[in-house]
Amino acid sequence: MSVMDRSEKRVIATTGALLSLFIFSILYARGRYNDLPECLPFNKAYTEPKVTRLDDKTYQVYAVAQMWQFQPAEIFIPVGSEVDFFVTSRDVVHGFNIYEKNVNLMAVFGNINKTTVKFDKPGVYKITCHEYCGVGHQNMQAQVVVNDPAAH
Ligand code: CUA
Repeated sequence: MSVMDRSEKRVIATTGALLSLFIFSILYARGRYNDLPECLPFNKAYTEPKVTRLDDKTYQVYAVAQMWQFQPAEIFIPVGSEVDFFVTSRDVVHGFNIYEKNVNLMAVFGNINKTTVKFDKPGVYKITCHEYCGVGHQNMQAQVVVNDPAAH
């Protein structure tokens, strides 16, 4: 039977503890931030811009970026809605940023990036391209208009 050096045992114990900590952190983050963006398999259906109402509080938006605009350019939803954004590009790489909602995606040709956002407060939320995409880049934006039907 071989005898292990004390420092070797210490290294193994430390490594084991760190490894457990890393695995725990990953699992914790997964549970805590379960609304992380996803990358979906490409499907041509997502390249046609549209807003679909699934029910009173659930919407799906197929957002298509191209030089130098987003389609749809305006999205109207009632307050409290949860929106799935499916983002893609028709040409170069664009950005898809909703500052107030901490949304930070890339719009890439041949890719579908998905994120889900809940709009709890009425207002106008700007969608901006934050990835340099050519001479019209600084004008490339759209907006989500969240209104409160009870306020009218
Ligand atoms: Cu599109 Cu910058």
